[in-house]
Amino acid sequence: MPHGPEQEPSSTPAIHPISATRLAEFREQRFGLFIHWGLYALAARHEWVKQRERLTDAQYQPYFDNFDPDLFDPDAWARAASDAGMRYMVLTTKHHDGFCLWDSALTDYSVAHTPHGKDLVGPIVEAFRARGLGVGFYHSLIDWHHPHFPIDGLHPAYAEGVSNDDRNIEIYQSYLHGQVEELLTRYGRIDTMWFDFSYSTRVRNGQLTPGGKGAADWRSEELAALVRRLQPDAMINNRLEIPGDFVTPEQFQPPAPPAGVWEACQTLNGSWGYDRDNLDYKPVDLLVRMLVDTVSKNGNLLLNVGPNGRGAFDPRALETLRGIGEWTRLHGRSIYGAGPSTYEAPPDCRYTQRGDRLYVHVFAWPYRHLHLPGLAGKVRYAQLLNDASEIRTLVPDPARDSGHTKLGALPPGTLTLQLPVQRPDVAVPVIELFL
Ligand code: GLC
Repeated sequence: MPHGPEQEPSSTPAIHPISATRLAEFREQRFGLFIHWGLYALAARHEWVKQRERLTDAQYQPYFDNFDPDLFDPDAWARAASDAGMRYMVLTTKHHDGFCLWDSALTDYSVAHTPHGKDLVGPIVEAFRARGLGVGFYHSLIDWHHPHFPIDGLHPAYAEGVSNDDRNIEIYQSYLHGQVEELLTRYGRIDTMWFDFSYSTRVRNGQLTPGGKGAADWRSEELAALVRRLQPDAMINNRLEIPGDFVTPEQFQPPAPPAGVWEACQTLNGSWGYDRDNLDYKPVDLLVRMLVDTVSKNGNLLLNVGPNGRGAFDPRALETLRGIGEWTRLHGRSIYGAGPSTYEAPPDCRYTQRGDRLYVHVFAWPYRHLHLPGLAGKVRYAQLLNDASEIRTLVPDPARDSGHTKLGALPPGTLTLQLPVQRPDVAVPVIELFL
């Protein structure tokens, strides 16, 4: 059980609260895979390519006409995620370009009408479930293809003075709600509905986004109620512009724990969709530190892979997941079902705690001694987690230990760990303390 103070969500939820059981399961899992996959994988230069390059529907059409992922093997995806230590996944059913990964009865703009010709969501969901992972859906509120989605400042077709006279947002609203209903009734139990995103108050260069959309445009309360009715245990995120079950810091690590339940979402290289020429890959040890930092602040980490146009995870993504898996295989005890500690970690360390086990994650390996404030007399046994080798401890005695050749006076209550000079060869060394 996570240790430490529980924070209340900052405002009253507009929706019926999620069950305590589902919430506990979410927190137990701690680490998930985000999958951004769609037509933009073929352009291979960011999932916002249609907007960034202001492509017309006709210019974007070749990606639809050529969408034929011949190497698609959802079990290989699920295996890679599971081996990395991930416990759930969230899949883009539709991104902002409006392309649907399932055979929706409400549009022809779906995978069923591409050369692939059939549903992709079902096989992905089944493959992940078969390996025991939870299944969630990311669903874009924004839609750059639907003819009744009013053109706004984020839309690829935006120009000052653009007319929306022929667009009726109510038609889009029924489409949005209808598609969510399809997704939540066709694929069995869905653990998360991850909506993206609202921007009615978004300011860039001192300007509100023209035509920016939010709760009133999505009919968010109704949409959330629909999710609760169809899938009572599906966690709903906070991007409907009404309070959800969890908040979603994106591409940054919160310096202090956000209020309430939270899940950081992070990329491997800054892009969510497959981005061929983007080499800004985060190294494995950085990603592991991000996971640890998140759990030490009582959050979850949702780490993204953008499969390519043939339906495969590229070698760099696989290599990264493999590296993370090497670490989680040995150190899962400090992550799953663990949470923050009320003890204060020394510099360059993060604590997580699970019951009477306190985990010291050492981000910068010191020379021989690690001083832990407030833990003298509280630790029964200490070991390195990677190989269960004992770590000996001492409580420095100011009377005995001062003088030039001694450790010197440390604040009363300090427990000192005697570390080997050789840092264990793992991404982040962990010392397990038995309180
Ligand atoms: C954003 C972006 C998007 C990405 C998402 C993930 O809001 O629009 O492309 O899917 O965040 O958090």
